[in-house]
Amino acid sequence: MKKIQISPSILSADFSQLGNEIKRLEDAGADMIHVDVMDGHFVPNLTIGPPVIKTLRKHSELTFDVHLMISPVHKYIKDFADAGADIITIHPEATDNLAESIKHIKSFKKKVGISLNPNTEINIIENELKNVDLILVMSVYPGFGGQKFIPDVIKKIELLKKIKDDKNYEYDIEVDGGINFSNSKDVINAGANILVSGTTIFKENNGNIKKNIETLKEV
Ligand code: DX5
Ligand code: ZN
Repeated sequence: MKKIQISPSILSADFSQLGNEIKRLEDAGADMIHVDVMDGHFVPNLTIGPPVIKTLRKHSELTFDVHLMISPVHKYIKDFADAGADIITIHPEATDNLAESIKHIKSFKKKVGISLNPNTEINIIENELKNVDLILVMSVYPGFGGQKFIPDVIKKIELLKKIKDDKNYEYDIEVDGGINFSNSKDVINAGANILVSGTTIFKENNGNIKKNIETLKEV
């Protein structure tokens, strides 16, 4: 079984202190940093773009796990690659040609992820599973932190794990949205090996990030 990794979402961080917040996450044992990019079009919220990622890049050596909730996404891939993203995850609904966008991300030597909303079935990306490094299973509808986990996605995680094992695929299974201490074990046991969390990591145990990261990893 792959080591469980935690990718804290900076959507729940203090945006006026993002450089320090990323340092705090790294010192507390985060395995990577989940950067939620929102355009107010693909999702009803707006966050940060390439210029902010570029300035954050010098604050940490950690993997920048960049979740692009933007559409159209293809024409912005280079900007995020140049800004220092390490993993670039896109939503299939945000590109006219998923295969081409995957190739484009790889052309910058970046890892590529595909994100599935709760109502997006695996079969629409079946042909690309062999070509990607990560599947980001959304356990909330994207746009905001602090939402309630949608338990139905557990079945999708189990199916992705079965396909991965049956076909010997390499992709990581990352789950994103409403992850807390009462569902993290279910998500891990279903087959996820990377957990994204914003609210739980920044708010639980009086904001003891180290303790929250360690607790989420427990199986
Ligand atoms: C939602 C984002 C998630 C979110 C996770 O659109 O993709 O990464 O920030 O935050 P919590 O853990 O608070 O649900
Ligand atoms: Zn996210």
